[in-house]
Amino acid sequence: MIRIGVFDSGIGGLSVLRHALNHLPQASFIYCADSAHAPYGERPPEWVRARSLRIARHLRDRGVDALVIACNTATALAAEAIREALDIPVIAMEPAIKPAAAMTRSGRVAVLATASTLASRRYRTLRQRHAADIEVIEYAPHHWVTRIEQGEEQAPDFVEGLRRELQPMIERGVDTWVLACTHFPFLSDVIAEAVGGHEGLIDPAPAVTAELRRRVPEVDRPATGGPRLRLLSSADPAALARRVSDLLSIEDGIETGDLPC
Ligand code: DGL
Repeated sequence: MIRIGVFDSGIGGLSVLRHALNHLPQASFIYCADSAHAPYGERPPEWVRARSLRIARHLRDRGVDALVIACNTATALAAEAIREALDIPVIAMEPAIKPAAAMTRSGRVAVLATASTLASRRYRTLRQRHAADIEVIEYAPHHWVTRIEQGEEQAPDFVEGLRRELQPMIERGVDTWVLACTHFPFLSDVIAEAVGGHEGLIDPAPAVTAELRRRVPEVDRPATGGPRLRLLSSADPAALARRVSDLLSIEDGIETGDLPC
């Protein structure tokens, strides 16, 4: 059975894992949540780079066949270093600026991401290349990540605040919303309600699954044996399993453990 390693600063990468699990039924996954150190968005770039590299090496040493960096921030700061260090396929996140530019009718797109992602050379290059002719509004709501990590994405005060935060962008005519932080698809319903529907929201998870399939065609090879999903957390593995049960509705076939690095 092909084994795919997936990691994020915390539970955000579960939005990527959810899609991959549903669409790649022959593969197994090890998901690492570095929840003891989330969020990464406000940490120094050097720290995020070193930490991401450490987790990537740990997953490689566990024998994964490919790695998904299910975190835009870790991608922006560490993807190059990880690709240099690992001799397995590494699939990383890419803010969906290109599809957003093709989709928008108003010519106004919002990119929701961490400040590190927005400041990265990788993102600035993408924006320059694909969005030179449209208006891009960038917004870095780090507190959304914190509230999702705390399981408070439905809390009335949070939902109310989020609506207020989106209002100025709605009034400016934004019709396309790039979810460039993997935590944010867990807010899709709340955002869709505020902006008038799901159509303008871009969740990167399907693109990651497609890239995984392209780079590792063996993921579709019929296979049996072993648990479908291992969950590792640098904080509390049982709490991670509870979030997986809430957010992904999976309870069976899961093993849990500490992230020992
Ligand atoms: N989920 C992450 C991302 O996609 C990181 C959020 C954070 O830890 O600040 O950027």
